[in-house]
Amino acid sequence: MSKIGIFFGTDTGNTRKIAKSLAKKLGDAADAPVNINKASIDDLLKYDSLILATPTLGEGELPGLPAGGESESWEEFLPQFEDADLSGKTIALLGLGDQVSYGDNFADALGILYEQVKVQGAEIVGQWPTDGYDFSASKAVVDGKFVGLVLDQDNQEDQTDERLTAWLEQVKPALAKG
Ligand SMILES: Cc1cc2nc3c(=O)[nH]c(=O)nc-3n(C[C@H](O)[C@H](O)[C@H](O)COP(=O)(O)O)c2cc1C
Repeated sequence: MSKIGIFFGTDTGNTRKIAKSLAKKLGDAADAPVNINKASIDDLLKYDSLILATPTLGEGELPGLPAGGESESWEEFLPQFEDADLSGKTIALLGLGDQVSYGDNFADALGILYEQVKVQGAEIVGQWPTDGYDFSASKAVVDGKFVGLVLDQDNQEDQTDERLTAWLEQVKPALAKG
């Protein structure tokens, strides 16, 4: 069985912390998480199964320089997907956001990343219910569900570990067969 690749973007470090926690929970099944600003598309394509994680910055934007981030991130990486064939890849997505301060753009970047990898042919797993979150609008909601796990470290940090564990149980079988 090949390992699961974990790639993340971050501005203030929350998503890095979550990615590390994910890797720890997955143990031998996953490689160490890599910041997307240190990765190329070939690094991602080495894996059949991936977990991609992103916070939302600016007003519903991917992390990166245009959103006011400290460094390059998913925003700058995104064009690399455009020539990539992701068919046969199984991808689970994870997004961080703040539903209280950004209730109109809650976890939008997760939705932006989802659209991109879906267009390139990946199979997306790990849809997550919106119950237990309170927000007005989110690009991460498709057909009434989040397109991946959404975590809110600003307002619901106490629920993060439980959500992560439950979501991993849900996605692990699909990622393991990848
Ligand atoms: C300047 C700024 C803009 C943000 N914009 C959004 C937003 O539009 N939507 C959202 O859900 N969260 C937004 N957030 C919240 C972050 O996504 C959240 O704090 C996240 O945990 C940050 O993750 P990081 O530490 O990995 O960068 C914003 C945070 C900051 C500081």
